[in-house]
Amino acid sequence: MPILCVNVDHVATLRQARLGQEPDPVTAAQMVELAGACGVIVHLREDRRHIQDRDLAILRRTVRTKLSLEMAATEEMRSIALETGPDMVCLVPEKRRELTTEGGLDCLGREDELRDFLAPLHAAGVRSSLFIDADHRQIEAAARTGAEYVEIHTGHYADAEDRTRRKDELTRIIEAIRRAQAAGLRVNLGHGLNYTNIQSFAKVPGIFEYSIGHSIISRAVLLGLDRAVRDMVEIIRTFAD
Ligand code: PXP
Repeated sequence: MPILCVNVDHVATLRQARLGQEPDPVTAAQMVELAGACGVIVHLREDRRHIQDRDLAILRRTVRTKLSLEMAATEEMRSIALETGPDMVCLVPEKRRELTTEGGLDCLGREDELRDFLAPLHAAGVRSSLFIDADHRQIEAAARTGAEYVEIHTGHYADAEDRTRRKDELTRIIEAIRRAQAAGLRVNLGHGLNYTNIQSFAKVPGIFEYSIGHSIISRAVLLGLDRAVRDMVEIIRTFAD
């Protein structure tokens, strides 16, 4: 059965909107684990727009399931990963101006560079994944880097504007999953997955992990709003006593 790992970056996005203490992604991670997720994911970006170094350090001490670190393939990030020791790193391309990760990592022609980059992490017992587009050339290149996993980018499928394009993207992803498995890679899926579009993968065999953030945190905000307002109304009512 596939596992669910939850990306808590957007809890930190909300905190960083006020540069304050709450909501704390560390607390969110604990709730995610208690609710049955098999792992917690954070993306430590170069610009630290959401997750902070402090979050990663505390999460390493507190996450009991699996801690995955999404990161760019830079020296800075590798040093942090080696120091922190997440269970897995997922290499992603990173642009300063993007709203979120926009596309898969380009592995073509970078196999040796990526292999060298990953080697110290593997030696330290950190597993590795490459976030790639559903493209057979990228899959074959990824397999040559020594990474154990690929995460296939589902964002183009999630964002497809019409049924034909959505169907084409789904076909591409399903074919990519098959090829990656044939190349000996474990397959994760992520980006733009939500409570509706995830159903398309129900019958696809061999998916190891779903990496989901935005839709879960969005749902949490709306589901929690009723309780949050009631709590404040109750406090204000007590002023009259
Ligand atoms: N996988 C990767 C590599 C990502 O960069 C992200 C976004 O941080 C996700 C999965 C989660 O995507 P979403 O927030 O759309 O569920």
